[in-house]
Amino acid sequence: MNKKIFIASDHAGYEMKTKLNKYFNSFIDLGTNSFESVDYPDFAHKLSIEVLKNEGSLGILICGTGVGMSIAANRSKGIRAGLVNSVEVARLIRQHNDANVLVIPGRFMKDEDAKNCVQMFIDTQFEAGRHKKRVEKI
Ligand code: RB5
Repeated sequence: MNKKIFIASDHAGYEMKTKLNKYFNSFIDLGTNSFESVDYPDFAHKLSIEVLKNEGSLGILICGTGVGMSIAANRSKGIRAGLVNSVEVARLIRQHNDANVLVIPGRFMKDEDAKNCVQMFIDTQFEAGRHKKRVEKI
């Protein structure tokens, strides 16, 4: 895997982040680094800055529901963050939306499903075609 992949979570996503890091062993981890309570926008913004700075890179964000991270990350122009609930959605947010950030609901997704979503997100390319003009309209 040669593209840079950044990962970050708040305390509610910390356990899932630890598991994904252990499994994939190739992500650039931007914190948080414990179960101590933190504010998810701080980590969403930190990761968004890195994804925008590193062309072609991708990001993975995890909080409890995934909603806070999604809202915060999508405030950055150029970030297209998609909250997933299945591997199929993880595929479609790359193919159709050119999502550059995958958001996982850490408290509402099984470990195996999260791993499969991450793998699919990394392996899937943007289809462009009819989707290009739609993404450009954002
Ligand atoms: C933290 O308790 C929780 O609010 C946060 O992880 C997230 O779910 C917010 O959207």
